[in-house]
Amino acid sequence: MASSVDPRHFLSVTDIDETEARALFERVKLEKRSRGRVGDLPLQGKVWALLFRKPSTRTRVSFEIAIRQLGGSAIFLSAAELQLSRGEPMDDTARVLGRMVDGAVIRTFAQAELEAFARSGGIPTVNALTDQEHPCQVLADIFTFEEKRGPLAGKTVAFLGDGSCNVARSWALAAPIFRFHLRIGAPRDYFCDVENAWVVQTESSEEAARGADLLYTDVWISMGKEEEGVLRERAFAPYQLNRRLVERANPGALVLHCLPAYRGKEIEGGLFDERAQDIFDQAENRLHVQKELLRWLTSR
Ligand code: CP
Ligand code: NVA
Repeated sequence: MASSVDPRHFLSVTDIDETEARALFERVKLEKRSRGRVGDLPLQGKVWALLFRKPSTRTRVSFEIAIRQLGGSAIFLSAAELQLSRGEPMDDTARVLGRMVDGAVIRTFAQAELEAFARSGGIPTVNALTDQEHPCQVLADIFTFEEKRGPLAGKTVAFLGDGSCNVARSWALAAPIFRFHLRIGAPRDYFCDVENAWVVQTESSEEAARGADLLYTDVWISMGKEEEGVLRERAFAPYQLNRRLVERANPGALVLHCLPAYRGKEIEGGLFDERAQDIFDQAENRLHVQKELLRWLTSR
């Protein structure tokens, strides 16, 4: 339920600064070492709503489990079964939920709709993916890189494929916060609209991958883009993450994928199999990082 203090939200990766993220990562390490038994239950007695307009496996399950492990309970609301599907505005939905639940995790299309919820709901609100951003994913990905390879600052991340997608945008927004170089290898029509001193975009996948410390890709057909499927498969084919690109990267470069993966499309099947351990560790870290994110959001 809405409190008198302004709630803290996580709508964009820019809602956290490096110091806050570092403190959060330290807690994640502790939490992982103690196998989830860090003691206090900051969400005890609280109910959080997960309101999703798009399908999800990892984000839904990791948030539901995180909320329960922190002592709270979660209710899952599919937008298709709410009055939202019959045209009730998100603002009104937020005003109702804000009087009944203690926090909200929202997956939707427009970032503006998520922002409307956060404005009207008066409860901590988390971006569980919009068309513009997937900040929980990238926060967990940065943790995963650092857990396996050490500090990301000064290193180079290569994002191959749909540079205009939500995950690539969150990487581009995260680059100045965490001070890593991001090279996006994508067709010009799918370049990212976020520009800053840490981001370089190229139409050459080899140039993007050269000397990279992390090679990363995401699906070619994001949720909601299904009608553009044929066009996208043709446009992104030269940007497949494969062993040829791994050879251009730094020795020891990590390969990550936010999942779900389409083998033989955005990632070569054999490369996926070789790197599956890291990729599924990455998926597991969604749970650990989001637990600490929830703790941070509710800690004031
Ligand atoms: N990576 C990710 O967000 O997966 P889901 O769509 O399954 O939640
Ligand atoms: N870019 C993808 C991410 C899936 C987790 C999508 O929006 O479908």
